[in-house]
Amino acid sequence: MSNHIKINDKIKPFKKKLHVSPDKSISIRCVLLASQAIGQSKIYNLLESEDVISALRTVKKLGINYKKFKNYYIIYGYGIDGYKTEKKLSINAGNSGTLARLILGLLVNSKNNITLYGDKSLSNRDFSRITNPLSEFGANINSKKNKLPVNIFGSKFLRPINYYEGLGSAQCKSSVMLAAIKTSGITKIKAKKSRDHTELLFKYLKLPIKITKSKTFDYIEIKGPSNFNSFNYRVPGDISSCSFFLVLTILSDKSQVQIKNININKSRTGIITILNKMNAKIKFKNKRNYKGELIGDIFVRSNKSLKGINCPKGLNSSAIDEFLIIFLVAAKSKGVSSFSDLGELNKKESPRLEIALRLLRMMGVKYSRNKDNIKIYGNPNLQLTGNYVVKNFMKDHRIFMMACIAALSFGGKWKIYDKDSTKTSFPDFLKKIKELGARIN
Ligand code: S3P
Repeated sequence: MSNHIKINDKIKPFKKKLHVSPDKSISIRCVLLASQAIGQSKIYNLLESEDVISALRTVKKLGINYKKFKNYYIIYGYGIDGYKTEKKLSINAGNSGTLARLILGLLVNSKNNITLYGDKSLSNRDFSRITNPLSEFGANINSKKNKLPVNIFGSKFLRPINYYEGLGSAQCKSSVMLAAIKTSGITKIKAKKSRDHTELLFKYLKLPIKITKSKTFDYIEIKGPSNFNSFNYRVPGDISSCSFFLVLTILSDKSQVQIKNININKSRTGIITILNKMNAKIKFKNKRNYKGELIGDIFVRSNKSLKGINCPKGLNSSAIDEFLIIFLVAAKSKGVSSFSDLGELNKKESPRLEIALRLLRMMGVKYSRNKDNIKIYGNPNLQLTGNYVVKNFMKDHRIFMMACIAALSFGGKWKIYDKDSTKTSFPDFLKKIKELGARIN
């Protein structure tokens, strides 16, 4: 079967209510925490994407059973010492940086040598950012050139660490937090702001965590070792998946969309702040608290008066997975948009900044670049009429979806490869786009 799609028409005006796929970050965290809880955890609305399936397969390899029911999974945990690690175990994290980095944190006390590997994209990513702090705990870790495969052999004599996380990486922070619950003593973390789902889950699970916040950093203290009980959880919708539809609606004619039950935790809503500064007028409705997370519905209409933004870099971490589509909005806004310090984008499933700029260049969008700082010169009349082929992007799901939104918003004849990439985070992406009326071959 061919693995490309063709889009030859802009989307027609639409007015819809939608649900998008469940949150990937929270789904992976729920699987991993349930695998270390004492008893049976019940996770409703778990995202069934490849990254989360890799997480389920990983815990299964570590001796943790799970069962799938109609609308929930049960995961059977045996506490923080409950993994069974036979000799010469290898674990495949697939495409998932979150899974790979978080599971290493949970393996600091493994009783055998475990090899962690991943697909081609994951094998290109830097792991020193996490193997360094985990080695400080006392785990024995080896890798060649700081890349996967990584070998880890845990230690019985873990010691707590003082860890400075200066990249704004929730994966690194969370990995250290997970190692801390296995370690006797108080682990102290000073972390540049990043998504805080792990902290909120720790609080909900009554793990001994103390958090003090400043404007740019969070100071976290975790007292270990600490077992915790199993839990029930309903995963909310993913704002990163939702954002493709927000941008499509804003850029399309006479359209509106309401997207239900989305996680609107402040550490994830950078895209909303940014788009609203660009005059998008996105609104939240039915806000409510769910086990520490903020959930709500999101409402937006088409907008013909978008303006450029000087994007504060303090918003980078809370919009880190959304810059690709923010660039599309900048391309159609009045004036210049500037973004700074976007180097972390090149550390994702692909060198995303490079590939996104390649796409903008192909579309004829004017931009300039100074290292990791980008200026996009918007054109409110942007219309495309050429032929566009998008391939060789390391099967990065977010690049595929960005290209689809560009095609449906700006026109032209597009051939976009690697449609299977959506299975990583949002398997229903094309189905949902079609629900809005998109014609895709
Ligand atoms: C994630 C954190 C972010 C994000 C990724 C998911 C998480 O990565 O880009 O998609 O679930 O913790 P970094 O921690 O590398 O910034």
